[in-house]
This record gives sequence, structure tokens and C-alpha cells, in this order.
Amino acid sequence: MNKLSFLRYLTSSSSFGRNKNVNLEPVVDSNELRKTDFGNDFYWGVATAAYQIEGAWNQHGKGESVWDRFTNKPGNVKDNTHGKVATDFYNRYPDDLQLLKSLNFDNFRFSFSWPRILPNGTGQINEKGIDFYNRMIDASLELGIEPWAMLYHWDLPQKLEDQGGWSNRDMIGWFSEYADLCSRKFGDRIRHWMVLNEPASFTTLGYLSGMHAPQQSGIAKFLSSVHHACLCQAAGGRIIRNNVKNSHVGTSFSCAFTEPQKKSARHHRASQRLDVMLNRLFIEPSLGMGYPYRELPFLKKIDKYIFPEDHENLKFEFDFIGVQSYFRVISKPSLLPLIWANRVKPHRTAEVTEMGWEVSPDGMYDIIMQFSKYNVKELIISENGAAFPDTLVNGRVNDQQRISYFKRYLHNVLRAKKDGANVTGYFAWTFVDNFEWDEGNRPRFGIVYNDFDTQERTVKDSGLWFRDLLG
Ligand code: NOJ
Repeated sequence: MNKLSFLRYLTSSSSFGRNKNVNLEPVVDSNELRKTDFGNDFYWGVATAAYQIEGAWNQHGKGESVWDRFTNKPGNVKDNTHGKVATDFYNRYPDDLQLLKSLNFDNFRFSFSWPRILPNGTGQINEKGIDFYNRMIDASLELGIEPWAMLYHWDLPQKLEDQGGWSNRDMIGWFSEYADLCSRKFGDRIRHWMVLNEPASFTTLGYLSGMHAPQQSGIAKFLSSVHHACLCQAAGGRIIRNNVKNSHVGTSFSCAFTEPQKKSARHHRASQRLDVMLNRLFIEPSLGMGYPYRELPFLKKIDKYIFPEDHENLKFEFDFIGVQSYFRVISKPSLLPLIWANRVKPHRTAEVTEMGWEVSPDGMYDIIMQFSKYNVKELIISENGAAFPDTLVNGRVNDQQRISYFKRYLHNVLRAKKDGANVTGYFAWTFVDNFEWDEGNRPRFGIVYNDFDTQERTVKDSGLWFRDLLG
């Protein structure tokens, strides 16, 4: 195994446990869920991301993104698909939004494509890109769907990556310009904003293991990217709050509850190290707690990138924190330097999704309770969902396993709420099957099936289940 594929193995969230014969367990809790149990103000939505759905990769003046570049290289994406067309949301958004409304969802999370708005990353504005988002936002509002905007969901303008991307400190200025532009252009109609999508994912996969775009690797690239992402996260929050009246500003984190495989002190330490990387690295600086060096001393090297004024600038009091959790992680000690070596493969009898991720509804409860111990105002489950091998038979996708997954995870969201966690919303990942990064079009996460040849949408049984729950 060469160096890159070894790193890929260690950092891949889907490289192990690909279990085709998923062992379907019955729904553990037979109580039916009711929308009203979550409260009248609870936000119910679906989450999407520009590169995964829009397509139109070079239409109407859009610039190249790191994902356009990455997917052009044969072998980077498992099934050699790409996001050039994706689900063609750029052209089909009116129908998609109507379909979303017909399933009784009132909230739609999307992301702006930075290179569609600023083709070079900074400077010249692409008015046609602005027009597209104006039309899409207006169409949502007309249907009674509240738009939730994410500023950055991984599709960095290639022009900025050519100058080092997230590892370049100039990123703070570039990102601030972009955040300022978006919040001024769209802030009159959008109240709910998020700054960064899963910074732990795009820094580790993009700048440490090189498994995702822009395929950079190494500790220096990683730590500098982490620090600049933390600074941009807070800067973006401040800019939005400043530009948008009555804004509701959050940011999102990938997270997974970590548990030691055995009760030994070494196992416990392994679990703490994973916890830092998976759950603590990005939220704690924003809360004024600094970087969690203690359990992971190599993080001390980040000091090299910290300027005196940064300590203050890392802080921002978000209105909500987006929790994105799909699975739990079991840990074991390892002599290998990279902490992902501390992960234990799900047991062969465990129920796993098509990504090899363990179905662990209790892990959702545990991670919510862990995050609710922080001094944060609201938690919103800004992503949760599962890929299973769906089949379209006579116009129907009978995805009972996904329904069972949603039910069990939602029961645990409710349990956490009842135990005092201030969870105010839930966004299913995702609406229509889309382009799943280096995995390509194969993993289907949608509650609506997409035929990628014809772009025909078919609501899966899980979509109908949501329609009935929310109706
Ligand atoms: C995390 C990411 O935010 C999203 O882009 C991805 O498709 C889902 N989780 C599923 O892997």
C-alpha cells in the first residue's frame, strides 16, 4: 500500500465495513413519533450542498472549484462520476422546491457556490450567479419554505487553492469578502445562516490525508488550515450578524460519539484523542476555550500559526450550533501516529449503512448530550441520514431500512430534548440522491430517488413517511 492509500485508509470514513448484507434490525421503539412531540417551533428541513446538487459547473460565468478539478482526474472518484450535472438543481430548482413543499418540509438548507458568485474567489462578481440565488431564494419564500444558507460547503474557488487555499492566512481576507458579499446581497430575505460545513472534514480529508479536494497532505498544511478555518468561522459569524437584521447565525460540525472498546486507561486515552479530532477541535476555540492540546499534544504545533490578536478573533457567540452526526466510533490504542488508527471497525454483526457506518441511534443521544454541556444557546441537527442500496421497482422505492434509521435517530433526538438539551431543529441529509464526493453517485442518501440519466425524481417511502409525519 503506498503512502497516499495508507492515509486514505486511515482517514476514510467509509473504507471499512462495507457490508452488502446489512443486517436489518427491527425498529427498537415501536412508539410512533409525532411532530408535536418536538414542539411547535421545531425546524424540520432537508440539507443539501451546492457542488452535490447544482451541476451547471461552467454555466453562466461560474469559475472552477477545487471539486471540478478533483473530479476531472480519473481515479479520484470511486465510480468516476462527477458533479458537472449532479442533480441539475441549477435548472430544476422550481420543481424540486415544489416537491419539497409537497412533503411538508418548511426549511431548506442549501449552500452558496463561492466560485459561482466570485469566479476568482475575490474581486469580480458574477451577476448571473447572484441572479440564480435570488431566483431560488424567492421561489422558496413564495412556497412558504424558509431558506437556510450555508456559506461554505467545500467547493473552494480553484484560483484561491492555487495560492494555498485554507493553508494560506490570506484566506481570512478572502473569506471575509465573500461572507460580506453574500450577507449583503441575500440578507434581506435570509434570516438563518451557517458559516462553515464540517471544518473537521474538509481540513482532514482535504489538507491532511489528501483523499478529498484539493488533495493536499501533511501536518503543516493541516494545522494551518485548521487555524484559518477557526478564524474564518468566527469572522463569518461576525460579518453576518453585522449585515443581517435579526439574523440567526450558526455553523456546523461533524461529530461522532466516541467510546473506548475496553475499560483500560489506554483505551480511554485513545478515545479522548479521537474525541478531540472528531468533536472538539473546532467548537472549543470559538467558545474561548482555546485548542484542546492536553489530550493531543501534537496540536501544540498550531501555535506557530497563531498571531496575538487571534485569541480574541477566534471567539464568536453563535446563535446555534449545527450538529451533524451519523455514527459512533469505538476506539482502541494504537502505536501508529495518526489518531484514526485508534478506530475500531464495526463488529461484523453490527448494522451498517452502505458507507460502512454503524447505525448507532444511541450515539445520537450521547453526542447531543455531550454538545449540550457546552455553553451554547441552541443545537440544531443540521444533518443526519443514511445511504442504503435502494432499488426503484415499478415506480416505488421501498426503503424501510432508511425509515427505521430515521425513526430510531429521531427518537433519540427527542430523548435528548426531554433530558434537557435545547435541540431546536432537524435536517435530513438529504433531499434528492446526489453526488457523494469521492464516493460518486453510488451512495444514495436521498428521501427522493434520482435517476441520474433522466433526472427523474421518485419520492422514496422514507419521503412519504416524512410527509405523513410532518403533515
Ligand atoms: C457530510 C457532508 O456535509 C455532506 O456533504 C455529505 O454528503 C454527508 N455528510 C454524507 O456523507
